[in-house]
Amino acid sequence: MKALIVDDERGLLPEGCLSLLENAAQAALACEGVTGVSAGLRVVTDEEIQTLNRTMRGVDSATDVLSFPSVNYPKGVTLGRKPALVKKCYDPEIGAYYLGDVALNIGRVLEQATQYGHGADREAAYLTVHAMLHLCGYDHMNEEDKAVMRAMEKKVMRALGLFKNGERFMDTKDCIAAAIGALDLSYSPYSNFRVGACLVSEDGQCFVGANFENASYGATICAERCAVSNAIVHGVKRFTKVFIACDRGYAWPCGICRQVLNEFKACDMEVWVGNKTDEWKMMKLSSLLPQSFGPEELGK
Ligand code: THU
Repeated sequence: MKALIVDDERGLLPEGCLSLLENAAQAALACEGVTGVSAGLRVVTDEEIQTLNRTMRGVDSATDVLSFPSVNYPKGVTLGRKPALVKKCYDPEIGAYYLGDVALNIGRVLEQATQYGHGADREAAYLTVHAMLHLCGYDHMNEEDKAVMRAMEKKVMRALGLFKNGERFMDTKDCIAAAIGALDLSYSPYSNFRVGACLVSEDGQCFVGANFENASYGATICAERCAVSNAIVHGVKRFTKVFIACDRGYAWPCGICRQVLNEFKACDMEVWVGNKTDEWKMMKLSSLLPQSFGPEELGK
C-alpha cells in the first residue's frame, strides 16, 4: 500500500520526481505518527486547478495546490492526536484509510521553483508535504495554527533531507538526513560511488555537497569539498561538524578533503560517516589528520 497514489497520466512531472513525492507523503505521515493511511495526488494544469477551485471552493482563481480531506477535523486536532478519526474513511479497494485528494498545479511548481531559486523537485515535494499536512488536519487560517503548520512542514522537509542553504539548528538526525538526501545530487557516472555531505558551521548553519566527477578523473571534486565551496560562497568559513553519507559502507574523507576541512575548522571537528541503514560513526578530525599542517603554522 502506497502512502500517495499519484495520477500523472500526461507525464507532467519532471523526471524522477514521482518517487520524491511518494517519499514526501510518507515522511509527512511518519512525522505525524500515522500509518496505514493513503491519499491521492493528481498533477493538473493552471486552468484545471482554477476550475477545481471555482467549483469546489467558490474561488475563481488558480493556486499552487489544493487538498480535499475526507476527514472532518475538530478545531485544533490533527490526525496524530486522534488517529481514530480515519475510521470512517476505510477504502477496501486500496486496503487503507483514505485521507483525501490533492491537486498539484505543475505550472505553479515550475514558476515558484524559479522564484525561490531551487529545483522543481523541491518545490513539488514541499507542496506535497503542505497538502498532506492539510489532509492530516493542519491549517493556516490564523497565526497560531500557521506557526504550528510551518514548524511541521520544516520538520518533514528536514526528515527528507531537503532544506535551505544556511538553515540553522539542525540536530544530528537532521544532518544525517541532509547528507543522505544529498546523495541524489551526486554526479558520479565513472565510479558509481555516490557521496553526500552536510557541513555544519559554528553557528549551526548547514550546507550540503555531493561528489561530482569528470571525464578526466583527476578533476573530480569530493562531496566534502563541494559542501565547503557551497558554504564559502554563502560567506561561511568556520565549521564544527561534517556528515558524510554513501550508499553502503563508510566513506571516511580522502586525504585532500581532510586537509581542506582542517583549513576551516572552528574546533576539533566531528567527522561523521554512515549510510541509510547502518549506525553512523564519528571521529575527531585531529585523529584523522594527526600532526597536521594548517593555517596556524603560517600564523593565521
Ligand atoms: N569521494 C568523495 O566524495 N569523498 C571522499 O572523501 C572520498 C571519495 C568520491 C570521489 C569520487 O567521485 C568517488 O567518491 C570515488 O572515489
